[in-house]
Amino acid sequence: MPACSAPGKLILFGEHAVVFGQPALSTAIDLRAEVYVRPHTEWLADGQSLDAPRYAYVKAAVEKAGAPRPLWIEVRSAIPEGSGLGSSAAVTVSTLGAVRRMRGTFEVRAIARDAFEVELGVQGRASPIDTTTATAGGAILALPTPEKGVLWSFERGDRQWHLHHRLLPPITFVVGFTGVSAPTGPLVAKVRELVDAKPEARSWIEEIGAITLDGLRALQAKDFVAAGELMTRNHALLNALGVGHPSLDRLVAAARPTSYGVKLTGAGGGGSMVALTDRPEATAKAITAAGGRPFLVTAEPKGVVGLG
Ligand code: MEV
Repeated sequence: MPACSAPGKLILFGEHAVVFGQPALSTAIDLRAEVYVRPHTEWLADGQSLDAPRYAYVKAAVEKAGAPRPLWIEVRSAIPEGSGLGSSAAVTVSTLGAVRRMRGTFEVRAIARDAFEVELGVQGRASPIDTTTATAGGAILALPTPEKGVLWSFERGDRQWHLHHRLLPPITFVVGFTGVSAPTGPLVAKVRELVDAKPEARSWIEEIGAITLDGLRALQAKDFVAAGELMTRNHALLNALGVGHPSLDRLVAAARPTSYGVKLTGAGGGGSMVALTDRPEATAKAITAAGGRPFLVTAEPKGVVGLG
């Protein structure tokens, strides 16, 4: 049975601003999704109709991959849905990979391109950072202009994203899932409306872009104090953009005393926060006590891979 797996992701700096073409930094994490496909008499995902809302990305991915006939699809994922940890990107990329394996057309760059288009189709607006991280693994830097070693580039309208691998020192991040699932599309649309209505919001987006580049340098220099301060400022700017949530602020406040820095990660509106800490157990405990679900995650070098 052709199958593929792909990792979830953590955005360390730059979510939302990246949709406007600003830099963003993410890392693949050691929580993965797996998708299995097999020719069948009708389209089914986990025994259910592909029209169920939770299979929107799977349905768009099999259409994009040009599956020649109906498939029985099985999705197994360790990434909580709507958690901001890249579940939809990992499932999209795994689905595209599994269908392409079945057809003998597995090609990583084409999977990254198709996955970005699937996210655009389902969400309305998107950047390629989530889908590139799920496809390529490792730490990914999205930039508006290409640098040496660019993996691939995509454009939409007047925006360009050039995706690069970057090396980060080994870091254990503590993630806290609020349990509040929030779909990305409406949050991205909300930020767009704010930026259109409020000139100040445009400068917040640009500041987040500058924070991303400073944050990358701080992490690479293992200056966790500086990186933590930048995370905290990034979080405040995301709150100003209207994608915060009381459940997130509760977990952020709980994690802060044992961390260098804490911010929401992903689209926000619930979802998850991430803490940079050298006391992961204490931070995880504080997140639990504040009603969140903690995960200790490490960077994952492997992107999309075939199974079996
Ligand atoms: C979601 O993980 C990241 C956002 O920046 C959306 C996107 O880049 O497509 C909020």
